[in-house]
Amino acid sequence: MSDIHTGDALSADRIFTTGMRDQWHAICPSDHIAPGGLLRVTRLGEDWLLFRRTDGTLRMLADRCPHRGAPLSQGQHLGDRIACRYHGVQIDGEGTVLSVPAMPGCSLEGKQLVRSLPVREVAGAVLAWFGLDPAAEPGPLQLPDPLVADGISNFLCYVEWDAPWRFALENVLDPMHGAFLHRESHTMFGGQTTARFRVRETDRGFFFEKTDQRGVNFDWVEFCRTGVDWLDLEIPYPATAGPGGPFGIVGMGTPIDQRRTAVFFWRYRRVTGWERDVWRFLYRTKLEQRHWQVLEQDREMLEGMAVDADRAENLYQHDLGVLRLRRLYRAQADEQASRLAAVQPLSAGAGR
Ligand code: FES
Ligand SMILES: [Fe+2]
Repeated sequence: MSDIHTGDALSADRIFTTGMRDQWHAICPSDHIAPGGLLRVTRLGEDWLLFRRTDGTLRMLADRCPHRGAPLSQGQHLGDRIACRYHGVQIDGEGTVLSVPAMPGCSLEGKQLVRSLPVREVAGAVLAWFGLDPAAEPGPLQLPDPLVADGISNFLCYVEWDAPWRFALENVLDPMHGAFLHRESHTMFGGQTTARFRVRETDRGFFFEKTDQRGVNFDWVEFCRTGVDWLDLEIPYPATAGPGGPFGIVGMGTPIDQRRTAVFFWRYRRVTGWERDVWRFLYRTKLEQRHWQVLEQDREMLEGMAVDADRAENLYQHDLGVLRLRRLYRAQADEQASRLAAVQPLSAGAGR
C-alpha cells in the first residue's frame, strides 16, 4: 500500500524518489490484467486499479473509492464499471460516479471524482501517462524504434526489484559492470576490463559509450526521452546463439515506490524469416534461462545496496553516464515541484 495522500502537492524529493511526472511510464505486462479481473498495482508511490471493460478496453483508476477511500480493487467488476465493496458505490472507467445504491439521487452521482490515467498497450506492456495536472491532455509518445520497427523480434521480460528506480536505470547507464559482474556469463566474457568513456549528445537523449571498444561486450548504451524514458543497448551473442548478430535490450524502469522498481526489458534481435524462427526457438529452449541468470546478478547487486548508497560514493570517469542521468532527473524534479507549488502550495506533512 502506498503512503501518499492524493491531493497533496509533491515535493522535489518526493518526485525524485517516486518518479518523474508529465511523462509516460510502463506499468505492467498487458496479460497481467485478465478479462473480468481487477489488478491493483502501486506505481510512482500511489495505488492504482487496472481493469478491462467488457469490450476489452483497458482502464486505470486511482485505487481509492471517492466515498471513504476503500480500495476499488476489492470491489466487483460489473462490465463497464466497478462497484466498491464497502458501500456499493459504482464508478465507471473514466472515474465518474454512476450510482450510489444506498442513497439514490445522491449528489455524488454524475461527478468525476476518481483520477483516471490515459493508457496505451504497446509491445505486450501497458503504458500510462502521469500528468502533473490530472486534467491536462497526455503528451506525445514516440515508441522505442526496436519495439515497433519491421524486421525486429522481441521478448518482454518483466521483474520487480527491491531497489530504487534510479539504481535500476543507473545500472544500465554503467556498461563497465558487464565485464566484471557478468564476466562469467554467456555474453559478456570478452574484451577489455579497462576503458575510457564518453557522453555523446543526440536529439532525444545521449549515448554513453566506450571510446576504445565496440561490438565485443556491453560497450554502449543510449538514453532516450521520447515521451517515455527508455534505454537501448546491444550485446554480442556467442556463435551458440545462432545466426542473426547481436541482441539488443530496450529497458524501462518504473518506480513502484521509493524502494521498489518495476523493470521491463525487451530482448530483441534483428532477425526475419528462418533466422527469426531459429532465434525464437533457441531463446525459449536455451537462451532465456541464461539471460535470467545474468539479470539475477543485477538484482542481487542492486538489492544489496543501501537505499542511500548514492549519498556516499567516490565516482570516477566511468560514472559520467550515471551522473548525467541523476542531474537530469534532479533538475526535472525541482522544476516540476516548483510548477506544482505555484498552483498548489505544499500542505502540512506533504513534503515527504
Ligand atoms: S468507501 Fe466505497 S462505497 Fe463507501
Ligand atoms: Fe547487468
